[in-house]
Parts: sequence; C-alpha cells; structure tokens
Amino acid sequence: MRVDAITLFPGMIDSPLSESIVGRAREEGFLELGFFNPRDFTDDRHRTVDDKPYGGGTGMVMMAEPVYRALKKARKRNSFVILLTPKGRRFDQALALELAKKKHLIFICGHYEGIDERVTPLADMELSIGDYVLTGGEPAAVAVIDAVARLIPGVLKKEDATVNETFAGGLLEAPHYTRPVVWRGNKVPETLLSGNHKLIAEWRSSRAQELTAATIRRQL
Ligand code: ADE
Repeated sequence: MRVDAITLFPGMIDSPLSESIVGRAREEGFLELGFFNPRDFTDDRHRTVDDKPYGGGTGMVMMAEPVYRALKKARKRNSFVILLTPKGRRFDQALALELAKKKHLIFICGHYEGIDERVTPLADMELSIGDYVLTGGEPAAVAVIDAVARLIPGVLKKEDATVNETFAGGLLEAPHYTRPVVWRGNKVPETLLSGNHKLIAEWRSSRAQELTAATIRRQL
C-alpha cells in the first residue's frame, strides 16, 4: 500500500512510523510512506503557509493554495483522500479494515487552528481519532496509519494475530500472561497452565465477553 501525508511537519509522522512493526513493514516494502510539505508549494520569499483568520480571532489558519498544490502533486487515479480534523467521523477498527483495502491513502494534516475550510471538499472523508483536540492532524495520522498498516497482509507475521485480536470480532481480547508463573505474589490463571486447549479457548472466550461487557458499561 502507498500512503502519502500532506503536512508541514513530516518528522512528526516519519519518526514514530520508522520504529517497530510499521518501520519493518516500510523496510520490507509492504508500506510506502511519502510526504508533501505545503511549504514546498509556495511562491513567496518567506514560503508562507498560514495567515490570520478572516473575521478575527486567535491563531493562524493554513492557506488553501499550498495544500491544494501539494494534494494535486500527491494524487493518483485511485487515491482516497482523508482530512484529519476533530469534527470528522470517529475512527474505529471497522474503518481501519476498510482503509486497509485501498491502494493509496492521502492524509491531509491541519496544524495551528486548522486549514481554510474551502479545502474540505477536496477530501473523500473527514476523520477524527477521538473527541479531543490535538496540536495538529499529525499524531492522528500516525494512529490511523499504524492501525491500517498492521492489517496489510504480511505485515504481522502470525496470520491469526489479526483474527483473534481485540475488536476484530467486536470483542475485546482476553488478558495475556507470560513468565514467570508467579510474579510478586500474583499467579497466572490456572487454566492457562493446564495445557488443555479446549478449556483455554473457553476461558479466553468468556474473559473476552466479560471484558467487553464491562468496557461498554464503563463507556455508557
Ligand atoms: N486534529 C486535531 N485534533 C484531531 C483529532 N482529534 N482527530 C483528528 N485530527 C485532529
């Protein structure tokens, strides 16, 4: 899959996505990540990308034209363009699975007070990662790209790693334990030590259901 980000701060995305599983996915060619900086699409000496908001108010607004030009350069025939904004559709696992099927994603990251509203119709979707306000779209792009990248076939080495996991079947996952059996007086649940695969599967299934029910109650 190819992913491009339109951002004034490519390092905020490039750096976290150079580590661990996604970093390896990039090295192995499962994910190609590119950047287009609106600052490179300006004409003036100061390479201006933002200006004061019409109507007054605090902060600066990203100007439409440099973002438009960057998007024009990044866009291909099959691109799906996502504008990151707290007013967008809430990101979830179901959407991650949909986005993982796309050939090319382009993320537009606002910064400061956001981007001139006239850019919005250029995107196929406005997307939020939750009801809080970040300094910009970049940390949101990292979260979305991470969640999508691990769903690309071949990125996770164990095929069933994405099948059993949290949210895939609409359930949270049962808790995990590793060595030692007793850690600071806390013992691993007996069933997991039993070697009985049927019992273990039943234990995991009921823990998953309890955990999901408790989490839903907490969120209500
Ligand atoms: N930009 C600022 N806050 C955001 C959020 N919660 N989700 C997506 N983009 C954002």
